[in-house]
Amino acid sequence: MNGLAEQMQAMLVAGPVPAAEVMALALYHPRDGYYRRPEGRWGFQGADYYTALDLGPLLGEAVACRLARAWERLGRPDPFVVLEPGAGRGWLGRDLLQAAPAVDPDFGRAIRYLHRDDNPAAAAAAREALGPHLDAGRARLVAQDEPLAPFRGAILSNELFDALPAQPWRWDGAAWQYEALTAAGPAWLPGAPCAATTWFQAQSEDGLESGDGAPWCEALPGLVQDLAGSLEAGLFLAIDYGETAARLLDKGADLRRYRGHQVDGKWWEDLGESDLTADVDFTRLAALLEAAGLAGTALLTLGRWVRAHAPLARWEEGWQELAPSVRMQRMENLLQLTLPTRMGDRFRVLEAWKGLPLI
Ligand SMILES: C[S@@+](CC[C@H](N)C(=O)[O-])C[C@H]1O[C@@H](n2cnc3c(N)ncnc32)[C@H](O)[C@@H]1O
Repeated sequence: MNGLAEQMQAMLVAGPVPAAEVMALALYHPRDGYYRRPEGRWGFQGADYYTALDLGPLLGEAVACRLARAWERLGRPDPFVVLEPGAGRGWLGRDLLQAAPAVDPDFGRAIRYLHRDDNPAAAAAAREALGPHLDAGRARLVAQDEPLAPFRGAILSNELFDALPAQPWRWDGAAWQYEALTAAGPAWLPGAPCAATTWFQAQSEDGLESGDGAPWCEALPGLVQDLAGSLEAGLFLAIDYGETAARLLDKGADLRRYRGHQVDGKWWEDLGESDLTADVDFTRLAALLEAAGLAGTALLTLGRWVRAHAPLARWEEGWQELAPSVRMQRMENLLQLTLPTRMGDRFRVLEAWKGLPLI
């Protein structure tokens, strides 16, 4: 039995453990947590899950177009700093830096990409992906606890917020319950009124029905404060399994487990051996950003966001010069990002501005 399992067993002897605490241990136990392993298990080659970055370079190219407009809007600052918390392997930074000079050579010269991730496997993978950009001084790996002087630029994340421990709550028709792990297995237990239940109550548009519920992320305000504090002026852009609070409540709370590229709801099994994910309450994220001085929040599905910001006609024209197999990959990449049944609807993009109105 490893340290994580021992700790979990000791906690269960003392009583039920809220699902958010189980998720925190499963992902972030200092030695045996899923995101504390020395080797990363992401991507098609890894064991458990892939992200939009595994599908090709188009997300990075679309982000480059979006950030170039933000750079213009900010008055073309040099440097234009892009901080990516939860950056994992650094593939989004790599694709962004690769695409930026073609979008605008001056933008390509101004951009400075900061990779930040508290996962020990991330640094090694990112060094490999970002190698030439690190050497050229256009990218840098920043330590999790490194204080950053406020910068002009952007804060960018892909699937960061869904990796924060989250507590599922549900309304049983008369009272609130929270999900927990007991010695006998998972269970819904009566929960006392708290900040989460007050928020859910206020967000339900048509009144609550039995089974309504959503995950509550305790760490969200602290992380938003930290990130917002480092941005002097610019764009905040989060790509995630995000939903409005009302739609999340309708959907019902769940945590998802990714193991061997299969997904299910068995969050209490294989702790430390599988990835756990929760939907992200974008209504709450937007409210926290606003409280931290960011305004003009916009929320789009990933598909609509890509169509709004990527030069699709120019892309297609440029792809004519590529080898047929590469051209097909680009097409597949675009369909994956934009089709509702693929990532187009499952992911949402939340934008907010600091220091300037939304474009
Ligand atoms: C689901 S992975 C996504 C990785 C990458 N963005 C991608 O799309 O491939 C989430 C990553 O966020 C990291 N993480 C979680 N909380 C974090 C925080 N507060 N600051 C920085 N990284 C964090 C995890 O260790 C993990 O590597």
